Amino acid sequence: MNAINQAISNIGVVPVIKLNHPQRDAAPLAQALCAGGVPVAEVTFRAAGAAEAIAIMTKTCPDMLVGAGTVLSTAQVDEALAAGAKFIVTPGLDVDIVKYCQAKGVAVFPGCTTPTDYHAAYKLGLEVLKFFPAEQSGGLAKIKAMSAPFPMFKVMPTGGISLKNLKEYLSASVICACGGSYMVTADLIDNQKWDEITELCKQSVDIVKQVRGNG
Ligand code: 3PG
Repeated sequence: MNAINQAISNIGVVPVIKLNHPQRDAAPLAQALCAGGVPVAEVTFRAAGAAEAIAIMTKTCPDMLVGAGTVLSTAQVDEALAAGAKFIVTPGLDVDIVKYCQAKGVAVFPGCTTPTDYHAAYKLGLEVLKFFPAEQSGGLAKIKAMSAPFPMFKVMPTGGISLKNLKEYLSASVICACGGSYMVTADLIDNQKWDEITELCKQSVDIVKQVRGNG
């Protein structure tokens, strides 16, 4: 596994963030995540100001792995990288975006859920895939079934993951890390519930440790 993949795998969970007020919320959010032992974030381009949020989070917590999510074009890849993004996540597998990131030496995690997606990802030489939307696409049962013909991949499921099913997902060896918005919901962010976010991160880290035998 390359360094970024390994670092994400070691943390075990990836908060998927949509920030409507980056100027107000990006810095305290980065601090809240790091305080909870989760120094990683996928900041989605679903909200205007995602690049600004990435820049603020990176400046606030320089050791944090801040990446960009919901990236739909190579122009957005450029925007994210200029802001300091260390990895790129796309909802589906876009060959042009993957090749663009690979040419730049940037880690990219395309959303894949079908054998056709996995085939294309194999051809592209990827190691870790986003499995999105996880629960809605068949959940862990489907992820395990996909591992039979494609044992070379680790996956990062997102979509429908919470503290309720995190342990089950992480227990499967095919899982690199789990993504989700459950620790950074719109309610938590809009109401600036930073302590609660830190607490949810700590609970997630406890589950990671339990499953991986360090707790
Ligand atoms: C994503 O973009 O990865 C998902 O929307 C996150 O899904 P969740 O909100 O169900 O965690």
